[in-house]
Amino acid sequence: MEISSVLQGGYQHALSRSWQAQRTLTKSMLMYPIFITDEPDARVEIPSLPGQCRWGVNKLQEFLEPLVKKGLRSVILFGVPLHCEKDERGTPADDPNGPVIASIRLLRKLFPELYIAADVCLCEYTSHGHCGLFRQDGAIDQAPSAQRIAEVALAYARAGAHCVAPSDMMDGRIKAIKRALIDGGYGNQCTLMSYSAKFASALYGPFRDAAGSAPAFGDRKCYQLPPTAKGLARRAIKRDVVEGADIIMVKPALPYLDVIQDAKQLAEDHPIACYQVSGEYAMVVAGARAGVYDLKVMAFETVESMVRAGCTLILTYFTPQFLDWLDE
Ligand code: PBG
Ligand code: ZN
Repeated sequence: MEISSVLQGGYQHALSRSWQAQRTLTKSMLMYPIFITDEPDARVEIPSLPGQCRWGVNKLQEFLEPLVKKGLRSVILFGVPLHCEKDERGTPADDPNGPVIASIRLLRKLFPELYIAADVCLCEYTSHGHCGLFRQDGAIDQAPSAQRIAEVALAYARAGAHCVAPSDMMDGRIKAIKRALIDGGYGNQCTLMSYSAKFASALYGPFRDAAGSAPAFGDRKCYQLPPTAKGLARRAIKRDVVEGADIIMVKPALPYLDVIQDAKQLAEDHPIACYQVSGEYAMVVAGARAGVYDLKVMAFETVESMVRAGCTLILTYFTPQFLDWLDE
């Protein structure tokens, strides 16, 4: 055997195997997505997202306290309005009494060490279920969409969110939000995490179930990226860096590891995040239930592939389980 042929001497021990990682998964790299409804006492399981619930504001303390004790560092909040009056412009999105603003305030008080991010979008709050606003002729109305989304983001920052994360994919919204944060006095108080490369994916089904945010007509293909679009994803990432994003996110994660790697290279001075979305989570759980693999082994393999590709922040529904697994 040639000397250069022998690699196995370098990873024969569990510890030397751990040294092969360029980055190691830690609890602080995990952000837990949470669904909050306007039914204050709710704790309702979401059938298509096994183990995940819609929570009422009054249940957040008992839900999160044990997780914070185990080392939960951050959450991202999604509003699930069941009783509000939805309209064309998504008025309930920044209702001061709505579930997102109420829970930002509450969580800041209950858990001073917890990092609170808020997803910013209109689809949960618009009558048409789309993420932006429309003109009379049915086209997306770019400037008012970005403006409205910026208004909502500023309202979440004012409520105390450490981070606002627009998932709408409207052109120009990063610039509009950054401007609004700066002019509102939150430029140095609130992180702007952009869902930069968000693809039109089949993997959002369980989320739309959970959040009641399926579009009433059509689809999201004229704002979310085509799954084949590597170049467009690179342009979106570069644009959002220039427009003022503090963190760049890729979503979904596992089918788009090449895009994560591109993001790491294009935005080399920014933290890179990815979202292991609802359908990816459901797929891993379903495969384990079907006996295809062990749940924990597969969960680690998926999330560590995202770390390997360049992420230091991962939004995942597996967060509670990882808090246990990472202690073992
Ligand atoms: C809405 C939004 C979606 C997700 C996050 N924000 C769904 C969509 O765009 O249809 C998906 C998250 C998940 O599937 O876990 N803007
Ligand atoms: Zn949306």
